[in-house]
Amino acid sequence: MQNHFDIKNDSQLTLYNTIMSTGSIPREFIQRLLSQVDIVDLIDGRIPLRKKSSNNYFACCPFHAEKSASFSVSHTKQFYYCFGCGAHGNAIDFLLQFDRLSFPEAIDALAKHAGIDVPRETISNTAHSSIDTQLCDVLTRIAKYYQTELRQSKTAIDYLKNRGISGPIAKEFCLGFAPSGWENVLQQFGTTLPLKHQLYEAGMLIKKDEGGYYDRFRERIMFPIHERRGRIIAFGGRILDKGDPKYLNSPETPIFQKGRELYGLYQVLNANRQIERIVLVEGYMDVIALFQYGITYAVATLGTATTAHHLHRLFRYTTDIIFCFDGDAAGRTAAWRALLTTLPSLRDEIQIRFMFLPEGEDPDSLIRKEGKDAFEQRIQTAVTLSSFFFQTLSAQADLTSVDGRARFVKLATEHLNQLPPGIFQQMMFEELAKKGRTEIISAQMPPQMKLQKARAPSSLRLAIILLIQQPQLAHCITEPLPPIDLPGFALFFELIETIKNNAAYTTGTILEYWRDRKEGKLLAKLALLEHMIPASGIESEFLGTLQRLKKLANKQQIDQLLSKAAKGELSQEEKYRLHQLIHDKK
Ligand code: CTP
Ligand code: MN
Repeated sequence: MQNHFDIKNDSQLTLYNTIMSTGSIPREFIQRLLSQVDIVDLIDGRIPLRKKSSNNYFACCPFHAEKSASFSVSHTKQFYYCFGCGAHGNAIDFLLQFDRLSFPEAIDALAKHAGIDVPRETISNTAHSSIDTQLCDVLTRIAKYYQTELRQSKTAIDYLKNRGISGPIAKEFCLGFAPSGWENVLQQFGTTLPLKHQLYEAGMLIKKDEGGYYDRFRERIMFPIHERRGRIIAFGGRILDKGDPKYLNSPETPIFQKGRELYGLYQVLNANRQIERIVLVEGYMDVIALFQYGITYAVATLGTATTAHHLHRLFRYTTDIIFCFDGDAAGRTAAWRALLTTLPSLRDEIQIRFMFLPEGEDPDSLIRKEGKDAFEQRIQTAVTLSSFFFQTLSAQADLTSVDGRARFVKLATEHLNQLPPGIFQQMMFEELAKKGRTEIISAQMPPQMKLQKARAPSSLRLAIILLIQQPQLAHCITEPLPPIDLPGFALFFELIETIKNNAAYTTGTILEYWRDRKEGKLLAKLALLEHMIPASGIESEFLGTLQRLKKLANKQQIDQLLSKAAKGELSQEEKYRLHQLIHDKK
């Protein structure tokens, strides 16, 4: 299983950038930071590394379960790679994956490790984040207050007991109680006008028409919503017994966006070092009941449909996601909607499954009836995305008629085109071809789908491989490279420039320049490739590739000039140039 986040296409990239919005940490700083930390130290502080050779260290991979050590860290490359699961990256990636930090958090942590301060380019940004911190702080204090109130309310305690919630679980999820009264929070936490305003901003107060405020939550069991690091950003409140609305949630605030947050994620991350799978359920009580019964890997969306943001957040921790829905028609419709949302994000290694509960049950009621094992059995047998996809579409069309099949194929093709190109998409198209008993589909497959055969690295590819693995080689390039019309040449050229403009460079630092770009993934792959060239031969091999590239450039120029000559369009200068090139070639 892979735990790392990687990006397949531009729309994911944009999304990734929005999610991971780096604020404004100057790029040069990130580079300097990377050159000042040693990835071996950083990783060794978290998982003990064993020395294999002067530059290479090994350990059991922290990103997948294994008994033999396939996780390697290279001192020279400042890069890690797992031969088992493929996890890889530089020091920043390690913090993203292992400490599960966001990008700005990883930079902060790394700077702390190196003992340097992080400069921020705009002050407003910092000011902004401190307002957020203040809002989280006040909500955390209010959550404590609600917890105290819970301990004092027999009705509230009885309610939770009746629902089978244990004391430790109530504590784990910081459950609380908002007592009756219109001004509890207002009076305790809103002692000044600015504080009142802050409470309002945080969603805890409602404005009266005639001026003034009152408490949003009254006489409700309170479920604090934690962000990933455990700060409280919002609340959900359930009415005791019956009443409307059953659940009342914080409104959207500067620190709370429903379409991004997942209830329970903080507790799930706390309870598990490695997360093999995550079950996505609907309700607060579902998450809590599952957790209490030992299924410590369920999270809930907050009364909204699943969004791409939710998914991308989950993909940072696991590649195996199970959506859990009611077994009724509404549940199926919701599942189909969730399926459509996931399509554009489905990288090859991701596995999505759908689990439908018996009618009238939710995970909370079911786990209490059946227990953990039976529930996990249901998880095991959840239907795969592909069978749910084809099931649903076939139910909408009559596959016995030609018209029906055509409709089916057309609909499915539209949806499958949403998938990122890759093996999974190809398999889905093949399945569709079988199901629709038609050959037309393969013609509609996007061209990049025709999988390329692995072939011996071309000179250019080899040059890039050697250069990304040993950036010092750039200094063998003493004269400017002639431009070559080859895919990948621009990348090679940029790689050389980047290395030459950097004083301290390692594979890990150089790759940082490509973090948010689509070629980054290719470069990382090439950085890991075994090229089988002995260390002593690398430099001459590199020079050899340069020679071959120069020859190719010459040949391209000659061809170009000759074709011009054939049309009689050569200038005097070009004639001279052609003459030279032909001479050089000999
Ligand atoms: N929800 C909400 N607002 C409502 C109703 C529901 O935000 N008025 C959200 C809550 O997150 C809730 C989830 O939708 O947990 C599922 O709702 P529902 O199935 O009605 O509630 P349960 O989770 O089953 O709650 P309970 O078991 O407490 O009745
Ligand atoms: Mn319920």
